[in-house]
This record gives sequence, structure tokens and C-alpha cells, in this order.
Amino acid sequence: MKRVLVLYYTQSGDVLRAAESFVKFLDTPEVELTWECIKPKADYPYPWKLYKFFDVFPECINEEPPEIYPPKFESSKKFDLVIVTYQVWFLAPALPIQGFLKSEYAKVLKDTKVITLVVCRNMWHSASETMKKMIAEVGGIHIDNVVVTHQGPPLATFITTPRLLLTGKKDKFLGTLPPAGVKDEDIHALSRFGRQIANNLAALTDSSNQPLLKGLGAVEVNRRYIIPEIIGRFVYNPWAKIARFFGKPGSLRRRPIIYLFAIQLVLVIPIVLLFSLVFRVLFNPLLNKKMEAYVDVLKSPSAAG
Ligand SMILES: Cc1cc2nc3c(=O)[nH]c(=O)nc-3n(C[C@H](O)[C@H](O)[C@H](O)COP(=O)(O)O)c2cc1C
Repeated sequence: MKRVLVLYYTQSGDVLRAAESFVKFLDTPEVELTWECIKPKADYPYPWKLYKFFDVFPECINEEPPEIYPPKFESSKKFDLVIVTYQVWFLAPALPIQGFLKSEYAKVLKDTKVITLVVCRNMWHSASETMKKMIAEVGGIHIDNVVVTHQGPPLATFITTPRLLLTGKKDKFLGTLPPAGVKDEDIHALSRFGRQIANNLAALTDSSNQPLLKGLGAVEVNRRYIIPEIIGRFVYNPWAKIARFFGKPGSLRRRPIIYLFAIQLVLVIPIVLLFSLVFRVLFNPLLNKKMEAYVDVLKSPSAAG
């Protein structure tokens, strides 16, 4: 009998749907599946109010998550695999999942194989690297990383994702824009990963700690987001520090900073995208080697090389 723990937090239900599809073929007598929904002590009402949405930004970047309620799984239990599913908030892992990883309950990951499954609009690079760092800090053995993103071209998700977050509406918009969130086919296709694990259960307890999901297209890196994400993190860091200096989440004193951040974000995004495009066209030959090395880092541990 192999023991598998699935950790998740979800708002629209996409992360949970992804997790359910991922483990579909692991729901067998040979596997004991334990589900754990992470419950943060802070409230993140969904759909989001506009101010609250931007007010979580400093804590996401500063890695100052809320405490979480004690999970239901037995803390002394040893699992053969922990599947950590999470979403991206402001280029960082969402606060509830950060809350788990920074809590005493994250001991469950120590010396245990961990697979991460990230669900987001399309900008996951920094969050994924932060996640790898946090898993290493608690002694987890990160063996695979799977990424799934929202459907539709980037310009469309630039409208459909905020609409989903602020209204909860997922349907087709204006007759032409695709529904928001992850495409059903992409969700169903995640079951291939669980099937591969189910066909190779012995690997969960071997000591080689090799990836289990190689060759299944676990991670597609869209190179066009590499420079915008790097610039984004660079720009976010000082804003997050300044906002935190002025107060905690919800405090009146930091309101002006959060408003300013939101305004500059909306203005700066098109400039950053244009700058990244020009930069890549001009410096592509010089950057190519570095880019490819970074792509390998992003694809690891499942698909590097
Ligand atoms: C506060 C907030 C910030 C977000 N920031 C990002 C981001 O930086 N990159 C991204 O690709 N998606 C971002 N998203 C989109 C979510 O990752 C995406 O909607 C995900 O599917 C949510 O999953 P859930 O509804 O199951 O919780 C953000 C969402 C929220 C609520």
C-alpha cells in the first residue's frame, strides 16, 4: 500500500479539478489517498473585491503568509508521495500554500517525495522557483513539476482572468473571448500523470528520487514570458517592501501605496511587454544560451535536459 497526500487550496475550483484529474488513476486499492484542503486563518473572499485583490500583493512577494488551521491528516504519518497543488498570486505561490509551507505542518514533506502541480493564468516561472526553494527549506524531495495554464491567447486571458477573479464568471465573453480558467481537455489530460505513477508504484519507495513524469510534457515554457517575469519581480520587490512598511493587510496607512501600485501596474504592463519584445529581438543571439539554461531550470525536475 502506497500513501499519497494531496494538498490543495482553491477559489474558482480549477486547482481542485486539476488535482482530482491528476490522481484519477491513483484511486485504487493499492493507494491510500489522503486529501487536505488548506484553510488559511485570513479570509480571501471570492470573487475578489478590487482593493482586497491588490492588498494581498505585498505579503505574496514578501513571503509573509497567514497562519493556517491545523490540517486533518495525522502529523506523525509518513507518506510516500505528497502532491502539492497551488495557484500563482502576483508571481508567487498563493498565500494559503505559502502559509502551509511556512507552518509546522510542512514537516510532512521532510524526506518525502513531492510533486508540484501549478495552475495559473500563464505567468508561473517565479512562483515555481519560489516553490522549489520553499520545498527544499522544509527538506522535501521535489521530483516533478507540472504546469497548467488558462485557455486562450494572452491578450484574451488579460481580460478573461481578471473578469473571472472579480466577478466569478467563467463563460465566453463578448461572443469571441474564450471561457476563463483551464480548458476541460487540459484538465482531463492531467490524468496521464497519475496513470504513469500508478503504473510505476514501486518507484515511490525507491531511493533514487528520479522524476516519475519525464516525457509526458509536464512543463511547457513560453520564452516570451521570461523577461517580463524577471522585470516584474524586480519591480514588485521594492513596492512590496514599501507597502509593508506602511502597514499590515487591510491597514488604512498603506492604502495610498496599494492604489499607486495598482495604477502603475496597469500602466507598466504594456510598456514591459513591448520592451521585452524589442529587447529579445535586439539581443536574442547574446541571450540565447542564458535563456536556454534558464528554461532547463524552469523545466526541472520533470523535463530538464
Ligand atoms: C491575487 C491573485 C493574483 C494572481 N496573480 C497571477 C500571476 O501572477 N500569474 C498568473 O499566471 N496568474 C495569476 N493569478 C491567476 C490564478 O493563478 C488563477 O486564476 C488560478 O487558476 C486560480 O485557481 P483557483 O481558482 O483554483 O484558486 C492570480 C490570481 C489572484 C487571485
